[in-house]
Amino acid sequence: MNAPFGAFEHPVVVAGGQVLTERGLERLDLVVHQGIVVELGASVDHPAGATVLDASGALVGPSFVDLHTHLREPGREQAETIETGTRAAALGGYGAVVAMPNTEPTMDTAAVVHMVLERGRNAPCEVAAAGAITVGRLGAQLAPMAELAALGVELFTDDGTGVQDGGVARRAMDYCRGLGVTYAEHCEDLAIAHGGCVHEGAWSALLGLPGQPAAAEEAMVARDLLLAATTGARLHLLHLSTAGSVELVRQAKARGVAVTAEVAPHHLSLTDASLKGYDPCFKVNPPLRPAEHLEALLDGLNDGTIDAVATDHAPHTPELKDLPFDQAPPGMLGLETAASITYEQLVAGRGATIERFFEVMATQPAKIARLDGTGARPFGHSVHGQRVAVGTTANLVVFDPEVRWTLEVDQLASKATNSPFSGARLVGKVRHCLLRGEPVVTDARSTR
Ligand code: NCD
Repeated sequence: MNAPFGAFEHPVVVAGGQVLTERGLERLDLVVHQGIVVELGASVDHPAGATVLDASGALVGPSFVDLHTHLREPGREQAETIETGTRAAALGGYGAVVAMPNTEPTMDTAAVVHMVLERGRNAPCEVAAAGAITVGRLGAQLAPMAELAALGVELFTDDGTGVQDGGVARRAMDYCRGLGVTYAEHCEDLAIAHGGCVHEGAWSALLGLPGQPAAAEEAMVARDLLLAATTGARLHLLHLSTAGSVELVRQAKARGVAVTAEVAPHHLSLTDASLKGYDPCFKVNPPLRPAEHLEALLDGLNDGTIDAVATDHAPHTPELKDLPFDQAPPGMLGLETAASITYEQLVAGRGATIERFFEVMATQPAKIARLDGTGARPFGHSVHGQRVAVGTTANLVVFDPEVRWTLEVDQLASKATNSPFSGARLVGKVRHCLLRGEPVVTDARSTR
C-alpha cells in the first residue's frame, strides 16, 4: 500500500458516520494514515496523536469531483483565483475539480495548462485541467491537443461557446479518438440562439428579454451524437438543460454511442420564473428553463441517462454582474452549494438513493475525468470516486444531510458573490473533507 503523492502523515479517525462501502451504507469508524484508509470497523483503536473527526448523523463517502469549474486564473483573478476557488471547492466537499479553459489567455497551449496545474499542486482540492479544442476558443484552428494530452489533459472543450463548425467538431473528435481523450461540448448553436440571453418562452415575452429556444442546445446535442457515432470518439455533453437533450442522450445511449452527460445544480432547482426581478444573478448559460425541463433533467439524472452533476461554477465580479440584465455576463457560483442542492432535489425530492447521490457527485465524474486511477497522472493527481475500503486513498467527504443553514454570500470562500441562492435556506452541508488523508475542512471551516 503506497502512500499517495503529497499524503498527510498524521493519523485521522473519522468516527460515528454512515460510511459508503461496497456493501452499501454501514455505521463504521475509520482510521486514515499516510493518506490511506488503513482500518474500517464498528469500533477502531485510535492511534496515538490521531485527530478525531465526529461524523455522527452524517454520511461518509468519496469526496466529490467537479467536471466543470471556472477558476478564472489566469486572467480574471478579480473574480476568482486557483487559491480561492479550490478553497471554495474543498468547503463544498470536492477533492478534485476540472478547471475550464476559457481563461485569458486560453488554456490552448502547454505553457498555460502547465501553469494552472502547477499552481493547483498544493491546493486543498486537486486541480485537473480541460484544454481548449480550438486556438483561442475561436472555433477555427485546432489547439495542439497532443501536447496538452501529454500533460494529462483528458477533456477538451471550448466551453463558453460551442464549436459552431461541424467540420471542425468532426476533425477534433477524430483527434480525440486517436489520443484517447474526451471531446466535451458546450451545446449552443449560436445561429439558432440568435443572441437570446434567457429561455425563449412565456417569461422572455413577459420580461421583454431576447430568448433562445431549447432547439439551440438540442441541435448541437444531436449533431455531436451523430459525429461521436461517426468518429468513435468519447463525447461528454456539458451542462444539459432541456428535456429534448435528455431524450436525445437516452436514445443515443440505447444505440451504444459513447456519450456521457452532466447537469448543473441550478438547472435541477431553478426555473425561468426566477428571472422576474431582472436580477443578473439568475442569468446563466444555458439559461434557466420552465419546470418541465427541470423535471426531465431530474428524471434523467435519477435513471442514469445523465451521468453526473457538475457545478459550472462561474464567478464574476460585482462590477460586471451588477450591469443591466442584458449586458451582465452569464454565470453563477456553484461549488459551495452544489451538494446541498443536489441532495435536496435528487434524494429528498426525488427519492434517489444515497448511493446514487455519491455516484453523480463523485464516482461518475471521477470516471469521466479519468481521475479514477485510469488516466495519466503526470501532476500526481490521486485516485478519486472510490467507495470507502481499506487500502483506498483517503479522499473523503463527511456530509450532514440534516443541517439547515442560510447562505450568506459574504461568507463564501469564493472571491465572487454571484450565487442565485443568496439568502436561501438550504438543507445539508459538508462537515469535513479530507484530501489524501489531510483534514482540509473540519466542522465546515477551511483549515488552510
Ligand atoms: C460561463 C463562464 O462564465 O465562464 N458562464 C455560464 O453562464 N455558464 C461560460 C459559459 O458557459 O457561458
